[in-house]
This record gives sequence, structure tokens and C-alpha cells, in this order.
Amino acid sequence: MFGEQKVSYSGVQPSGNLTIGNYLGAIRNFSEYSEKYKTFYCVVDSHAITVRQVPVELRRRTYETLALYMACGLDPEKNTLYVQSMVHEHAELAWILNCFTMFGELSRMTQFKDKSARHADNINAGLFTYPVLMAADILLYQTDVVPVGIDQKQHVELCRDIAERINQLYPGTFTVPEPIVSKSGMKIMSLAEPTKKMSKSDENTNAVVYILDDRDTIIRKFKRAVTDSGAEVRFDPEEKPGVSNLMSIYSCFSGKSLEEIEREFAGKGYGDFKLAVGEVTADALAPVQKKFYELLADKAALEAQMKKGAEEASWYARRTLSKVQKKLGFLQVR
Ligand code: TRP
Repeated sequence: MFGEQKVSYSGVQPSGNLTIGNYLGAIRNFSEYSEKYKTFYCVVDSHAITVRQVPVELRRRTYETLALYMACGLDPEKNTLYVQSMVHEHAELAWILNCFTMFGELSRMTQFKDKSARHADNINAGLFTYPVLMAADILLYQTDVVPVGIDQKQHVELCRDIAERINQLYPGTFTVPEPIVSKSGMKIMSLAEPTKKMSKSDENTNAVVYILDDRDTIIRKFKRAVTDSGAEVRFDPEEKPGVSNLMSIYSCFSGKSLEEIEREFAGKGYGDFKLAVGEVTADALAPVQKKFYELLADKAALEAQMKKGAEEASWYARRTLSKVQKKLGFLQVR
């Protein structure tokens, strides 16, 4: 809670290649949050450098990520959209929180264990304290809810532990946030292995449909999607995971119910069905893509947006940071 307002906060990695799974499972519903909460969406470039980045690409993806979220419907008038490194309070609070986070706690983080196995040549301290910077992101805004994917739930729980620990020592410092993990009903599966979640980092790009894939690519990927034996378009995630996943996608993009879809394709083969899924997906993404390229073409406007977002965010961040500094005993001589 910040004053009278309930706060929702989420961070997004600066990678341009979001999938239809990200879109349907999360981004498309973001605008609903702004009705109920004061909402912050942060492009987390400081988190990104925990693994090696190529500077020109990081820059490009920072613009792209902001543009893509705006193109997906996040209205900068109703949500605070900004870039993490432009609000220096994140780094400052992260240092303080580091001093209230235990080595053992960080060692238990699943993502740290996975990432250090994948980047064995670069197990840097930032990778280890990644969740502390994330906790700083969240706590700076006195956040009530954090919409995240299931893989980030453990980090939000650690953030709660840190907040509670500090509140014990210095009562009333932080709002303790709750993670909100999007319902599994919206979980979109890989087109190649439909029992696995669609993941933007999948090496098989045919398994994944990106929001920015062009129409022909989208249709081709759905044509190649793995279906199941039999020929019936019927929703049965146990027996027919491939077809059921395509039905969910079709349903999400067309607004038709699963029963309507079963009726529509009764007596038709998988070929017709897969083409229809491709077409409906391409049609739904076309306006998002158009908007994205328009926004990206105007770098100055995006930069103005980043500036405005950073100013808004700083207002909140500064207040929390100075409250924390006071509680800890730092002098406030200005
Ligand atoms: N770690 C998150 C991810 O990889 C991104 C993130 C950074 C975040 N800071 C956050 C998410 C704060 C929610 C709240 O997806």
C-alpha cells in the first residue's frame, strides 16, 4: 500500500522475443490490473547483466520491450512503465537488503542453481544476489501483489521473508507482497512437445510462436504442430495434448468456447483445423505488430516515455528509500 493505493508490481526482462504463451497467459490481462491497483511495469536491464550481454543488443531490446508491452495494450497513462537502471534507488535499496539476506537463503534458490549450471564460466555475485535486487524492485513501491510466472514464485517468497525480517527489527517499514501466479488454465504448451510449457528460450523455434512472428511463419509453425493419433478435434488434455493445446490457443484468440470449436471442426481433419488456428492467431497479432513497429520507429517518443516513467517511479522509490535509511540510522543531511 502506498498511501491509500494498492500496488501491483512486475518486472520484465529486456528480451524482445515474447511468445503467445506470455501474451495469453499474462500480458493480455495486465490492463485489468490497472483498474484495481496502482501498477508498475519495469524493464529490468540491471537484472539482465547477470549474464553477459552485448551492449548494442541490450539497448535495442530495452526499446523493443517497452514498445512491445505498450503495443500489447499497456497504456502509459494508466500504468507506470520504466527502465530499472534509470531509477538509482533500486541499486541502493538492493545493497541494504543484501545485508538482511542470508547466504544460505540465496544458495537455495532454484534459478541460481540452474543458471550457475548453465553459465558455469560466469557464476558472478550478481547472479547470486539477483533475488535481492528483485526484492528491492518490489519493496521500493510498497507492493501488495506481484504477478509472476511460477518460476519466479520462490523469489517473491524470499522477498516476503526479507520484508518480514526487516519489519520485525524496524516495524512498519515495508508492505509484505503476495505473488499472483497466473492460472494454469491459460498455460500454452510447446507445439513440438505439447506436454511441455511453451518457452521463449526453447532451442526448437518451430515449437514456439513469437508475438512478432510474421503471418507466414505463424501459419507454417501451426501446420507443423504435433497433433495426436486419431483425427477428431476434441478437448482432452490427457489423451490428446497436442490438439487440446491448439484448441486452447484458438479459443483464446477467437473468443469461441471449446464446445463451439469441437462443433465447428466436427468431421473435418487436423489439416483444416491447424490452418484455422494459424489464421486466427495471425489475425489477432496483426494489430499488435503494427502498433509495435510504429512505436519502435519513433525512438524519441519512446525515450520521452522512459523519462516520464522513471520520474513517476522515482517519486515512490525515493520516499521508501529515505524511510528505510532513516530507520536504519543513516544520517539524512541534505
Ligand atoms: N526475475 C523476473 C523474471 O525473470 C523479472 C523481475 C525482476 C521481476 N524484478 C521483478 C518480476 C520484480 C516481478 C517483480 O521474470
